[in-house]
Amino acid sequence: MYQALYRKWRPKDFSDVYGQPHVTRTLQSQLESGRISHAYLFTGSRGTGKTTCAKILSKAVNCLNPVNGNPCNECEICRGIENGSILDVIEIDAASNNGVDNIRDLREEANFTPANAKFRVYIIDEVHMLSIGAFNALLKTLEEPPSHVIFILATTEIHKLPSTILSRCQRFDFKRIAPEDITSRLMYVSEKENVNLTPNAASLIARIADGGMRDALSLLDRCFAMGTDIDEEAVSDAAGIAGTIHLFSFSKYVAKGDFTSALKLVSKLHSDSCDIDSLCTELTLHFRNLMVAKTVNECEGLIVCSKDELEKIKERAGQLKLSKILSCIEVLEQTAKNIKNAANKKIQLEAAVIKMCAPSASSGEGISVALEDRINAIEEKLAALSSGKVQVPSPVQESKSEPKPEVKSEPVPVSKAPVPEEAPPPPAPPVPAAENEITVPEGNFEQWPEVLDKIRVYDIPLFGIMASSTALVKNGRLVIQSENPTLFDFICTDTHSKELARAVFEVVGKKMKIAVSNTEKPKTATSPLENLRSKINNFNNNGG
Ligand SMILES: Nc1ncnc2c1ncn2[C@@H]1O[C@H](COP(=O)(O)OP(=O)(O)OP(=O)(O)O)[C@@H](O)[C@H]1O
Ligand SMILES: [Mg+2]
Ligand SMILES: [Zn+2]
Repeated sequence: MYQALYRKWRPKDFSDVYGQPHVTRTLQSQLESGRISHAYLFTGSRGTGKTTCAKILSKAVNCLNPVNGNPCNECEICRGIENGSILDVIEIDAASNNGVDNIRDLREEANFTPANAKFRVYIIDEVHMLSIGAFNALLKTLEEPPSHVIFILATTEIHKLPSTILSRCQRFDFKRIAPEDITSRLMYVSEKENVNLTPNAASLIARIADGGMRDALSLLDRCFAMGTDIDEEAVSDAAGIAGTIHLFSFSKYVAKGDFTSALKLVSKLHSDSCDIDSLCTELTLHFRNLMVAKTVNECEGLIVCSKDELEKIKERAGQLKLSKILSCIEVLEQTAKNIKNAANKKIQLEAAVIKMCAPSASSGEGISVALEDRINAIEEKLAALSSGKVQVPSPVQESKSEPKPEVKSEPVPVSKAPVPEEAPPPPAPPVPAAENEITVPEGNFEQWPEVLDKIRVYDIPLFGIMASSTALVKNGRLVIQSENPTLFDFICTDTHSKELARAVFEVVGKKMKIAVSNTEKPKTATSPLENLRSKINNFNNNGG
């Protein structure tokens, strides 16, 4: 009968246990010196060697010829325990024997001296499943155990144990097994089984197993079913994941912004019945590796893969900006969450792929994404302020789709003059402009609200500054009266001056010289930085 690999290759002594030296060394030295505890607690994640070590320990305490704290595995006791003919080592599955009565039986039985071995050893697996009553019943025995009894409790969920139990046991924490340890165990087992497993394939299995040796060996078992030459592709097929070749294709498409190819790949993998959740996880890991390769010089110890693959990772990292890699990780993390409740997982992944390939995701290249966000936020606030100052419900022409912050003040009606929606503007006249035959009456300039309405369409920031201004005509000039000290700076800049002149021209029908009152001396055009500063000052003065 076929025996699963993980059972066939269960370590027989401590030197065969991979990746738990803090446990095995301590146990071995205790055994060598004879300082054995009467209650052990083994905790840690699944398939990391808890039951295995409990069994080795149960043999080692009873072995007739122990070597360096290891059982000899040859004496009659070792063999008897191994084949189940010696009944002094008792394995109890607490999941199915969790009642008070089970533990009471155990207590009574424990009083008898062992039949063949020196110690009666109780291995209680999944001990967190015991009922409260059962825990209490066990507590008494743990407190005053007969000298010939040893308890070994094992659990993946230590937090479910009462502190009274914890304090009576010597605790060993089993770690997730390091990928290198899993890889070397897999290579060892494959060699013994006469199967050719490539190092890349072994490290891929290790990565998928995420620290659990049982899972790693189970996956190796599935690969064995496919033949005696196992490479990465065989592992990917057996695990139902994308494999690294596809991952590198993905990151290539991201680097090129080629979402057509990326979408085709998602489709292909989907029709090959690749599991979308695992693909998402693998992609996240791949981009994590690119991030590490991008930021750490000596990244060998931080990335689980073969030498060839590491070279490929470094090369790909060189083709991508760090900001891009980081935004991809964010997108994938969010997608992994969304996928959990998604009706159609494939669509979620497709959306992620588009976001990752889109150039907009990397528009922050050169400046940090955070800085870009802040600038966007300031611009939004300015726009909101602009509309808020004259209580316009919403700016007519929007360049952004994001919702604007609410304006708290009460709406006041503004001029009902129709606003041209997307009117193609006539070429803007230069400023200052020459006067022509149309005369504009001196004094209060009645059409100013119309001009403002146009500016609101053409130049939102300028509108924000000018909104509360008034205007009059004096000596043929249009004099804008504003309390805002930055207005002059603003209309001195080329773009704003053109938009202003254009608005005036459209309303009045002729070019007009424009002046600003309350401004002492004209300045030359401000730099964009000064401009931004004045925008911010203006915002702080008015809105902040
Ligand atoms: N540290 C290890 N070194 C080598 N093989 C291991 C190790 N841990 C687990 N294995 C392999 O995985 C199999 C299962 O291990 P074991 O039963 O000891 O896990 P466990 O920690 O008790 O897991 P669970 O919490 O699921 O009961 C073993 O038969 C063995 O083949
Ligand atoms: Mg176990
Ligand atoms: Zn022995």
